[in-house]
Amino acid sequence: TQSCNSDIPSSSLSVDSESLQRQLEKDVLARRFIKDLMGRSGLSVHEDAVGNIFGRWEGTESELPAVATGSHIDAIPYSGKYDGVVGVLGAIEAINVLRRSGFKPKRSLEVILFTSEEPTRFGISCLGRLAGYAKDQEDLSSVFMKEGHYSAFLELHIEQGPILEEEGISIGIVTAIAAPASIKVDFEGNGGHAGAVLMPYRNDAGLAAAELALAVEKHVLDSGSVDTVGTVGIMELHPGAINSIPSKSHVEIDTRDIDESRRDTVIEKVHLSAIAIAEKRKVKLSEFRIVNKDPPALSDKSVIEAMQFASQHLNLSHKFMISRAYHDSLFMARISPMGMIFIPCYKGYSHKPEEHASIEDIANGVKVLAVTMAKLSLK
Ligand code: GLV
Ligand code: MN
Ligand code: MN
Ligand code: MN
Repeated sequence: TQSCNSDIPSSSLSVDSESLQRQLEKDVLARRFIKDLMGRSGLSVHEDAVGNIFGRWEGTESELPAVATGSHIDAIPYSGKYDGVVGVLGAIEAINVLRRSGFKPKRSLEVILFTSEEPTRFGISCLGRLAGYAKDQEDLSSVFMKEGHYSAFLELHIEQGPILEEEGISIGIVTAIAAPASIKVDFEGNGGHAGAVLMPYRNDAGLAAAELALAVEKHVLDSGSVDTVGTVGIMELHPGAINSIPSKSHVEIDTRDIDESRRDTVIEKVHLSAIAIAEKRKVKLSEFRIVNKDPPALSDKSVIEAMQFASQHLNLSHKFMISRAYHDSLFMARISPMGMIFIPCYKGYSHKPEEHASIEDIANGVKVLAVTMAKLSLK
């Protein structure tokens, strides 16, 4: 019969590991490309134990903390190609602009490519601050930077929202980054035959997952603020056969807010719902794990002023805004004064293939970044 045909792929797992291998090869190529560009821009390049890549232009007072800028080049599946990438290529181009103009930095300037900003490869976002290539704890200690390592950190990024394009404004100056959190949940039931097990005798782990997804939406909406958001972007059912009652389900929840305690209230309510749903459906809540629960970050006043000065100097319209997406900057803000420069993107699309930013908007962002770095370098 059809379903016993030996032509069907023997295991979807082997297909996955092949595509993972291809992704890893592309990542290595992309990193090599960036290191090469950094070298061509006259930067001295080094890589830390988790694969963060640094390109440095020595200033005349290179013993002072440097001004750094950067972003990531990894992406989620079926993503666009501007999220992150603009902030790495744009940083290198800003260095080129400053060199061409004859600028001599006082504080050194550094471009950083952060490893795995997206959570989709290792299950945790902004991995550059944590772990990865390092073989042991000792190896890892070299990755951590102390407060004061940089005098300022900047990140150029597409807005990932519609405001700048809708309002016809060239530059967004980020004043704060919303507080993100993520949770992994597993339910386990007995499973069984989809025809033979009658409805009263089921404990369906798939329905528990579905119900929890709806509970996430409810608790987010109940916060009463448009700033509270929640998403179930991953839901997996085991064994994943049309004629088998799901015996296991796995749900991943992303929730964010500009108000940390309001977000934490959502997390607590989601936890209570998971417990109640498991009880009602007689499934086991085998895991409820908060993967990360980060506070929001505020941009630094003097960095904001430098970005504003740069926009005005270049005659570019600007507005202050909040970043609802998170960025490497969220974590750099813990050790350095931080600021982010947003540029418009097509219809605010991001995390999907239609993501786009025009070359004019990217050029504007690069110029603002260059002038801001120059100004901060001389401070
Ligand atoms: C970053 O990609 C985010 O999810 O905000
Ligand atoms: Mn992203
Ligand atoms: Mn990004
Ligand atoms: Mn799990």
